[in-house]
Amino acid sequence: MAPRYLTPSANDGSVKVLQLTDCHLFADKNKDLLGVNTYKSFDAVLNAIKAQNFDYDFIAFTGDISQDYSVTSYEHFAKLISFLGKPVFFLPGNHDDGPLMYRIFEDLGVNIAKNVITPSWQFVFLNSEVYAVPHGWIERKQLDYAAFCQKRNPEQHMALLVHHMPMLVNSAWLDTQTMHNSDEFNTYIRRLHRVKAVITGHIHQEFDETVRDIRYIATPSTSIQFMPKSNDFALDNLAPGWRYLTFRPDGSIQTTVYRLENNIFIPNDNVDGY
Ligand SMILES: [Fe+2]
Repeated sequence: MAPRYLTPSANDGSVKVLQLTDCHLFADKNKDLLGVNTYKSFDAVLNAIKAQNFDYDFIAFTGDISQDYSVTSYEHFAKLISFLGKPVFFLPGNHDDGPLMYRIFEDLGVNIAKNVITPSWQFVFLNSEVYAVPHGWIERKQLDYAAFCQKRNPEQHMALLVHHMPMLVNSAWLDTQTMHNSDEFNTYIRRLHRVKAVITGHIHQEFDETVRDIRYIATPSTSIQFMPKSNDFALDNLAPGWRYLTFRPDGSIQTTVYRLENNIFIPNDNVDGY
């Protein structure tokens, strides 16, 4: 897959990225996920982003675009996100059909490049999906691809994007669904001395921790939110959200999470899983 070269718009060379994640769309626009209409919540998020009028260079979508593996759900995604008028890059989540996405997205206007390269940073989109199970696993060839990207462009700082968080988040049920070979992942990426950040979805909550100089960041879903630090499955009434990231030429990252105001997307009580 050919890499995509981008020139950032900021004068100082910073790369500005909008991260969106876990929209869980259905073919049926009227369908709910645990009481939240995911089509409407995603549409509301996109409208709120447009109204902010912030500048950014591209959109990174970190998986779980679909909730039903359907072609129609991916068509909804492509149509809705085209409203923002920016390049979109993605990786598959555990609720996605990865091979289907790579087959159809290019014709729908979604980029299928897995390496986005700018003068100061490069971004590598990795696949941690294990078909039809919730946990993640990173194949050795994915890690080798990140190493290949570093070798091809050794001067740039690197951000790796992947659906599953390669560390525990102190939530017993969710921690069974983590990247099951996260030790291998973290050991490998530490040897790639350019990796500064790992950006994920999957945990449907805000997360930002630095371990051994690598920043691990996750972002609220545009649909349902999981209750942080809950032992059992539990939903949070916080609003759908998104994140802006500024990757500076000196290797530092500045980031802010936003959520919808006046949240009308409240999930059902008393559900015990999803
Ligand atoms: Fe998800």
